[in-house]
Amino acid sequence: MSHPRKENPQVPSHDNQLIELDSVDSTNNYAMARIHEGMATDGLVCLTRHQWAGKGQRGRTWHSEFGQNLMMSLVIEPSPLILPQQFLFSAAIALGILDQVRLFEENNWTIKWPNDIYWNDRKAAGILVESVIKGKTWPFAVAGIGMNLNQEKFPPEIPNAISLKKITGNHYELKKTALDIRSSIQKRIEELKKDPDQTLSELNLSLYKKNQIVSIKKGTDILLTRLFGVDALGNLLTENGGFALGEVRMTDDHNG
Ligand code: BTN
Repeated sequence: MSHPRKENPQVPSHDNQLIELDSVDSTNNYAMARIHEGMATDGLVCLTRHQWAGKGQRGRTWHSEFGQNLMMSLVIEPSPLILPQQFLFSAAIALGILDQVRLFEENNWTIKWPNDIYWNDRKAAGILVESVIKGKTWPFAVAGIGMNLNQEKFPPEIPNAISLKKITGNHYELKKTALDIRSSIQKRIEELKKDPDQTLSELNLSLYKKNQIVSIKKGTDILLTRLFGVDALGNLLTENGGFALGEVRMTDDHNG
């Protein structure tokens, strides 16, 4: 099946700050371009049915079946949050997504460090936050969210992917889900602005494999250790000490 390659935005509604696209390289790129044009403010959602250059974490590509899954970017003006709070900021986004998926299915959701959304041992959603940084200020962030909603089969390269449909049997509407997720993320960002300790403790309450043995990869070395939690800067706290974000990966899955 051939898919349209042309960007085809419907007229954005100013009431709900939503731009729906048929196809785009990456909603994160699209949202970033609107920011740089001065055409985006806090709360703008860019949603698409298809990405031809969707970006994942660590420079990977994010693939998704046409029209089946949520691919959205939310523009956020983080102020008065400051750059050292970037990890908590991504935690607030993950918690906002968790709030939403827990309405679909109550149990077994966790956040796999640093910010993947897991149901049992399966990945249901990933987050890619990109920021506009000017000197020490942080005027804008783009929270890119890829969530497997209605896709029923996944390629063998990602054997631990799962969709909401596989979990609940229900079909999910992309636009409604995107707008609901925007609301729950915005609540979590407000909570973070008022009480960062609360965001951190809620993250730790929902942390994947907390108090269990995890496998951590540092360079070519693999370490099995007990995970105690994370701190406000995103360091992983284990019985073998702390590991900085970017220094290690948790390796007990196939697409994290
Ligand atoms: C991950 O690797 O887990 C993060 C995946 C983030 C994918 C989403 S899809 C919408 C937005 N646009 C992108 O190009 N990437 C994010």
